[in-house]
Amino acid sequence: MLNSCTFLFVILVAGFSTLYHKLSQVPSVPELKDEWWGKGTKKLEEVAVFPFSISTASEVIERLNQRLLSSIENLTPPMEHTSFEYGFNSETMAKVIDFWINEYNWTAQEEYLNSFPQFTTYISGLRIHFVHVKPQSRKEQDFKALPILLLHGWLGSIREMYELIPLLSAPQRIGSTGYAFEVVIPSLPGYGFSEGTQRQGLTTDHVGLIMKKLMERLSLPRFYVHGSGIGSIIASEMALLFPESVAGMHSNLCQSTSPLNIIKTMIGSRTAPFLFGDSHSAAKMYPLSRFIPFVLQESGLLHLQATKPDTIGIALRDSPVGLAAFILEKFSAWTRPCRISAPDGGLNLGKEAVRTIDGGNLIPLNTLLDIIMIYHITGSITTSMRLFAENLSYTHVEKQYDSIPITAVPVSCIRFPDEPFLTPEFTLRSRFPLLVRVNYAPSHGGHFPALEEPAVLARDIVESIHLMDGMKAEGIGS
Ligand SMILES: *[C@@H]1O[C@H](CO)[C@@H](O)[C@H](O)[C@H]1NC(C)=O
Ligand SMILES: *[C@@H]1O[C@H](CO)[C@@H](O)[C@H](O)[C@H]1NC(C)=O
Repeated sequence: MLNSCTFLFVILVAGFSTLYHKLSQVPSVPELKDEWWGKGTKKLEEVAVFPFSISTASEVIERLNQRLLSSIENLTPPMEHTSFEYGFNSETMAKVIDFWINEYNWTAQEEYLNSFPQFTTYISGLRIHFVHVKPQSRKEQDFKALPILLLHGWLGSIREMYELIPLLSAPQRIGSTGYAFEVVIPSLPGYGFSEGTQRQGLTTDHVGLIMKKLMERLSLPRFYVHGSGIGSIIASEMALLFPESVAGMHSNLCQSTSPLNIIKTMIGSRTAPFLFGDSHSAAKMYPLSRFIPFVLQESGLLHLQATKPDTIGIALRDSPVGLAAFILEKFSAWTRPCRISAPDGGLNLGKEAVRTIDGGNLIPLNTLLDIIMIYHITGSITTSMRLFAENLSYTHVEKQYDSIPITAVPVSCIRFPDEPFLTPEFTLRSRFPLLVRVNYAPSHGGHFPALEEPAVLARDIVESIHLMDGMKAEGIGS
């Protein structure tokens, strides 16, 4: 009896240590082939940059309004005493449609979107659209004019980053050092005004290569990068693959979901966060007992778009109200999970920002409709979702980016209290050895901080770059 127990124990220990050994091996940095994503065969790249502004034919808006009116009749009433627990509440949707038709003024919003200079250029065969704002400083010698690339996430677009533009391009000081950033905000390929590809395989690392080429095209070969949502995955892959280009990375969704980190999180965050020197971040995160049900409830659409983007894409492309429900629902649950049981899903159905009783900022519907309109007028919802399918493809997963430490680029992470997808802090130290800091935003903000708490986010970006720029002076990093 004792012998067979000992035997089993030895087998288990041997099994676990082999697994641990296998999982802790660092994969080699993948080599990325420069591919052509445009139609037809590879052509010589045009390097011209064209000015661009958004301009929508009035028929498009008329047709949209007609469609919105007829959609009101098709809404199925919600069940008694439900808010957003079963998904987007159709009584709230009726209010959204009313606002969209009667209050929202696309002409005015288009003017606002066009108030910052935009351009297009062709990269790897795709037309790439971007906002490019020069630093607003007359006496440049007083301020460091550093370039920064801002990468939006999914459900986002260039609009996600608009509140940050004046905050970053205006001169400001940290101690005696002044900064005024040169801000570049691309539409990711297949999002909004950037062309999507017809070819399979445009994964986040290839998107990163396109972004690097964009910065080179603008004569900004060395730059800082900030990423949000899937933009943060692109940013970290850029930091790994192009350390000579990326001076530093900042993100509100730093992550490492390597298999080893997932196992450690499962064991550690439940039983003994101190084992990993991490009681601090554990206290700030949802406990696993809340996190797992949350992920099951709120990430269905990630699975849907990662597996069948073209199916759901047909419905969302065809119905503006369906598109709005799909997008707005996430601005409810992903800004604060408990909002699904709040009346109106905790959404702010007005024109102006509203502070909640506890001081949180509710993004106005007027702003969220800009995001929906960009997807609608460009018809880009399907191409935007395909990025998730590519990201989960075997060829991408096989590269194991999450398991490769980024050793040559400093990284700074800010974490907002209602971000549903935080991983414990120890997972960051394994992937980002040059972690300059992990900052916890005081009390508000979730998955979309550029829209929810732009001032907090912008300040953190500037402070982080101040630290990273200082490291460069001391010869750390590349
Ligand atoms: C919409 O905005 C445009 C541009 O600012 C303005 O000229 C127009 O009067 C507005 N329309 C309404 C109905 O307010
Ligand atoms: C995309 O892939 C990366 C690396 O494989 C992974 O860390 C990330 O969670 C994936 N993101 C999504 C949204 O599927």
